[in-house]
Amino acid sequence: MRKPFLAANWKMNKTVAETRAFIDEFIPLVKAANDADIVLAPPFISLHTASGMLKGTNIKLAAQNAFYEDKGAYTGETAPGMITDAGCEYVILGHSERRQYFGETDEILNKKVHAALRHNLKVIFCIGESLEERESGKTFEVLKRELDNGLKDIPCDKLVVAYEPIWAIGTGKTATPEQAQETHKYIREQLASLYSEKAQEIRILYGGSVTPENIDALMACPDVDGGLVGGASMKADSFSKIVNFKRV
Ligand code: PGA
Repeated sequence: MRKPFLAANWKMNKTVAETRAFIDEFIPLVKAANDADIVLAPPFISLHTASGMLKGTNIKLAAQNAFYEDKGAYTGETAPGMITDAGCEYVILGHSERRQYFGETDEILNKKVHAALRHNLKVIFCIGESLEERESGKTFEVLKRELDNGLKDIPCDKLVVAYEPIWAIGTGKTATPEQAQETHKYIREQLASLYSEKAQEIRILYGGSVTPENIDALMACPDVDGGLVGGASMKADSFSKIVNFKRV
């Protein structure tokens, strides 16, 4: 049985004060959800504050990115060891916004995943196709390439995979549960070719316009093990409803 995994990706939103206000409101709303992994990924600048507030709760912390070197002359970058030190258990790598706006290739991402694991971080590894790729029938090809190259020589025990179709991110256009299940099933088959029977234990999250209204149907799909949530994770009330999705 794979434990449900619900993660909030705030992207470049919320000040430290806003982070504090969210967490104060959020903690009591999800106190009873002990059957799920609950993760918040605020901007770097709020990690320290969030880490202090989340101690002793059932909520864990993630960074939204990490560099692949341990230290040195890399102005503006953050080393994976610093992220562990700030109290993070997880790091999100390979988000399509990083690939698209910051030029992160499969090869760079593979180096980042290796570095994160060296520093004891668990990795939420994102993959997903664009609208053009889906419409031209290339979805599976793209996902296979991102998995094969991004996860080259990576063990799977600290790995969570997030399927985020780019056309569904921030657009209000969610994949239907049928589309999500079909794609997640394919991803699990690919993970099985990389990790054999251990693929059954890897959580595969869906991301892309997840809301309190569509989470129940998505979570009812056999290969959807959780959600990576942007817009609808910004308010404590809304994200708590997603965490408290209907268990069947
Ligand atoms: P969204 O973002 O929920 O706003 O679509 C999801 C993500 O990019 O992780």
